[in-house]
Amino acid sequence: MKKTIQLCVLSFFIVSLAFIMAATSISAQDSNQAGEQNGEKFYMTKFCITCHGQKGISVAPNYPNLAKQNEQYLANQVKDIIKKKRANKLTLLMTENPIVNNISDEEIAAVATHLTNIKITK
Ligand code: HEC
Repeated sequence: MKKTIQLCVLSFFIVSLAFIMAATSISAQDSNQAGEQNGEKFYMTKFCITCHGQKGISVAPNYPNLAKQNEQYLANQVKDIIKKKRANKLTLLMTENPIVNNISDEEIAAVATHLTNIKITK
């Protein structure tokens, strides 16, 4: 009898654990997807798309392609450009644009995630 109760408690514990694990993995997936969707949205609404192209392949030879670039590098470059730590005639195209220049760190992170995961299709 005692053994049955112990077994019951144990199986209840295992089932709850499995449930919690499933729930957290679903919510992690959701927030990942949400992050990427936001990244795509900011990429458009912050005008990045006009120069760096819909799929992160730039529209001009002196503009860099961003698709598939390392996420951390992308975020660092945008921050450096916005703060004018990386500055030249071409970065002015980004810093002189009030919408591009007004991007937050969270938006930069979301855009970087989007660009690094972008699927290039022809
Ligand atoms: C008006 C055109 C224009 C817009 C809009 C623009 N960029 Fe750029 N971006 C450039 C150019 C040109 C460079 C290259 C600067 C250089 O030569 O140093 C650049 C450089 C970069 C780089 C560095 C790439 C590397 O390989 O080092 C990143 C990252 C970047 N842009 C992201 C963005 C993001 C994110 C946005 C939107 C918030 C954006 N850009 C909006 C023109 C633009």
